[in-house]
Amino acid sequence: MNTLASYIGYAVLLLAPVLLVGCNDTPPSTESDASASDDTPTFTEPYRPQFHYTPPTNWMNDPNGLVYHEGTYHLFHQYNPEGIQWGHMSWYHATSEDLVHWEHEGVAIPEEGNEMIFSGSALVDHDNTSGFADDGDPAPMVAVYTSHYTLDEPDPDTGAETDQAQSLAYSLDGGDTWQKYAGNPVLTHNDANFRDPNVSWHEESEQWIMTVALPEQHKVQFYASDNLTDWTHLSDFGPAGATTGIWECPDLFELPVDGDPNDTRWVLQVDLNPGAIAGGSGAQYFVGDFDGETFTLDEGISEDDTHWVDYGTDFYAAISWNDIPEDDGRRLWVGWMSNWDYANDKPTSPWRSAQSIPRSLHLTTVDDEIRLTQQPVEELHTLRDTHTTLDARSVANETVSLADDGIAGTTLELVAEFEPGDADAFGLNVRTGNNEETVIGYDTASESVYVDRTNAGEDSFHDDFAQRHDAPLAVNDDGRVKLHVFVDWSSVEVFANDGARLLTHRIFPDAESDGVSVFAEGGTAELTRLESWTLNSIWAR
Ligand code: FRU
Repeated sequence: MNTLASYIGYAVLLLAPVLLVGCNDTPPSTESDASASDDTPTFTEPYRPQFHYTPPTNWMNDPNGLVYHEGTYHLFHQYNPEGIQWGHMSWYHATSEDLVHWEHEGVAIPEEGNEMIFSGSALVDHDNTSGFADDGDPAPMVAVYTSHYTLDEPDPDTGAETDQAQSLAYSLDGGDTWQKYAGNPVLTHNDANFRDPNVSWHEESEQWIMTVALPEQHKVQFYASDNLTDWTHLSDFGPAGATTGIWECPDLFELPVDGDPNDTRWVLQVDLNPGAIAGGSGAQYFVGDFDGETFTLDEGISEDDTHWVDYGTDFYAAISWNDIPEDDGRRLWVGWMSNWDYANDKPTSPWRSAQSIPRSLHLTTVDDEIRLTQQPVEELHTLRDTHTTLDARSVANETVSLADDGIAGTTLELVAEFEPGDADAFGLNVRTGNNEETVIGYDTASESVYVDRTNAGEDSFHDDFAQRHDAPLAVNDDGRVKLHVFVDWSSVEVFANDGARLLTHRIFPDAESDGVSVFAEGGTAELTRLESWTLNSIWAR
């Protein structure tokens, strides 16, 4: 039984029907709101992310159907309309004009009968290749998702009790209302596990390309179509890289190398559960070429190598936005900030899970390797409030609170640069207080950046939660290590050396643990730069 099947038992009706709260209805943010009850979202409940997307109530997992259309960023996601644990999977819809503030739009594509709506993508069918639009209708927005069927009787040949196939739904009003395609499913497979279709237009071969996972075979398949309804199998990729767990949620996109539009590569990202670098679920990627038919690894990259998207525990199932305008040109994504090891047990109510901050994707040559690097989107600058800059200082085998320098908070953006000097380790502690701290450090002996959440706060819900996770990272050419950190009420995202390494973690500290300190161990490190911004809540208006 795979992980998904084992979660089906969680389909318990824990909460009243979802309360759809528009952002404008949410009260101003005070972390000590006593009125938070189990089923009325206030957006000030303990651990409620203040600048990360969350649904008002209920369970969420993967981002789905990320697409930009006429000034609006659409974010759909896996959602349980009936409870706070995985089950009754449906697509929930949220929209944003700025990638920062989100409006909750409600369930877009619901579970019906024996069919749950699993992960997938969305696109705008500008030329109406699908024929879903009649004359005069706007271009259809099309969602391509996995139908997860519970069979009336086990399959006589395989004994499987469920089946998966790819289906379509479309909207003729820019995403407000959705209709399932009458000819569903549009693509089947004899493997009962066949899911997470990611479809986009391939310019060169002028066709739709679907990238879809065969989870238990550790394969991604590519299909082509002229009309989104008829699909032809092109090729398979895999097994390759990490295969200790099932493969899910692939994404395929082209990026310039070091910003050079004449030197591009294709990136195939595939999620893995379990067996990821920090334990449980996580994301890997492959760099190569896609010619409209086959994905080929770049010369010099071995099928046996694994490249991790993020070295933290909580970045999964990321997919990138379709249709970002050419004059913007960015490739943007969010990932689910959770881990299947403990996703159903995190101590939050009346909602569960968050999406990461939106990030832009790049291919950057680091240590002779073309690496997928990530940057926080600049749009987040609009949340910056109080700005504090520290003078450079030595940190000599000590931990120094920055409270007297005016640096503290539970929603923070921090940019720190250190010269290692002769210290064994150095870095920042965030969300400190009440014997709690989340450590963001650099270990000079092992040349790695790490996040240690051993004493980060509440961790009793999962035995392996309280751990440290490391990512290999060389000191920059300028002799410094740069840490760009986003701290929220229940997460820490670290972009090390300009996004050369990522560490994304959920933490559950006390609301009062708002301290920040710098530290050095075993010697003296130079803190050459520290800037801090408090960040405003996206829910407070
Ligand atoms: C990944 C995943 C997908 C699936 C969805 C179901 O987290 O397991 O493969 O489509 O979640 O909710």
